[in-house]
Amino acid sequence: MIRTRIAGLGHYLPERVLTNADLEKLVATSDQWIRDRTGIEERHIAAPDETSSSLGLQASRMALADAGIAGADIDLVIAATTTPDGFFPSVASLIQAGIGATNAGAFDVNSACVGFLAALSTGFQFVATGAAKRVLVVGTEVLSRIVNWQDRNTCVLFGDGAGAVVLEAAAFGGPLGFVLHSDGTKKAVLFADGPCGPRDADGNGPAPEMCTIHMDGPATFKFAVQSMASAIREALAKASLGVDDVDLLVPHQANLRIIQGTAKALGVPAEKAFVTVHKCGNTSSASIAVALSEASRAGRLTEGAKVALCAFGGGLAWGSLLIEYSRSGRTPRPATTPLVEAHAGGA
Ligand code: ACO
Repeated sequence: MIRTRIAGLGHYLPERVLTNADLEKLVATSDQWIRDRTGIEERHIAAPDETSSSLGLQASRMALADAGIAGADIDLVIAATTTPDGFFPSVASLIQAGIGATNAGAFDVNSACVGFLAALSTGFQFVATGAAKRVLVVGTEVLSRIVNWQDRNTCVLFGDGAGAVVLEAAAFGGPLGFVLHSDGTKKAVLFADGPCGPRDADGNGPAPEMCTIHMDGPATFKFAVQSMASAIREALAKASLGVDDVDLLVPHQANLRIIQGTAKALGVPAEKAFVTVHKCGNTSSASIAVALSEASRAGRLTEGAKVALCAFGGGLAWGSLLIEYSRSGRTPRPATTPLVEAHAGGA
């Protein structure tokens, strides 16, 4: 069976930092309120000339350098985003061009904040079936372009950024179990309309203010904790593993209290959860990708570690992907009997 190693990771956060103090000047909020309710201290905001594809390109270049390969070595580029540069071409195609992946196909995935999980599980399947040897999976967002900067309920939560992962066929590593769920009847809880929405009698499409993020915060909060904890349990059951087998939890970074609540609901010590939300805010499709790259650099991704990823978001959608992390792709050697004992036994 073909397994998958994670050959490289990268991320990019725009230079401009928007602090809670900056937000105090925009809406009726306070640094204390934002920290207490969300754990967010600052977030990054894309420069006027930056887009999801340009952020994703920076993250991809870092992931390729980390893997020690060139763009031409990639067979497929999958980009998860809710804020593409345009309707088409896809962000993945623009990244494919930018890295010179002349041998690769490319497509986008949109499942709101679950987008990176959906893209990553798709990438793993391309490798597992032998359809691709190396896949670049990118999560990238410029959410600052669809935030209503007058709405204190939402504008304090989101940020821009991108993360990228290079998957490669190997003897060891990759997915152990995953689940993706959706309940489109709950659209009203979390949505942003777009310009292709229905026309009224005068032929007018959705008003510009409807094309920004709308959210029922408390309903989303409750849904987030329950859905992520239950999705992880499902993914673990598929892999015949238990909660104690989880070495690292990398959840969607929306709110520190949601992350802590999910760990508690699962019975996983809070220290096992990797957190970046304090310095990035919620970057939707990019959040788990950025967190994985940061976790790697922080030495938290160790060979053979069982890493539980989980996300929730607009749809409503939710899911979990349990992976056996491997950089080497080599099957671990079985523990051997120490030489001294072997001699003692034979004497
Ligand atoms: N500053 C100060 N006060 C605020 C702010 C703010 N930025 N935002 C809301 N408030 C007020 C509210 O108006 C409310 O005031 P009221 O009682 O006078 O009406 C009060 O604070 C409390 O509001 P709650 O909604 O009860 O606060 P809560 O503790 O639930 O925290 C929050 C709100 C942070 C939004 C929380 O509900 C949350 O994190 N929800 C989940 C959000 C999320 O994860 N979204 C993911 C989106 S994923 C995607 O797909 C894009």
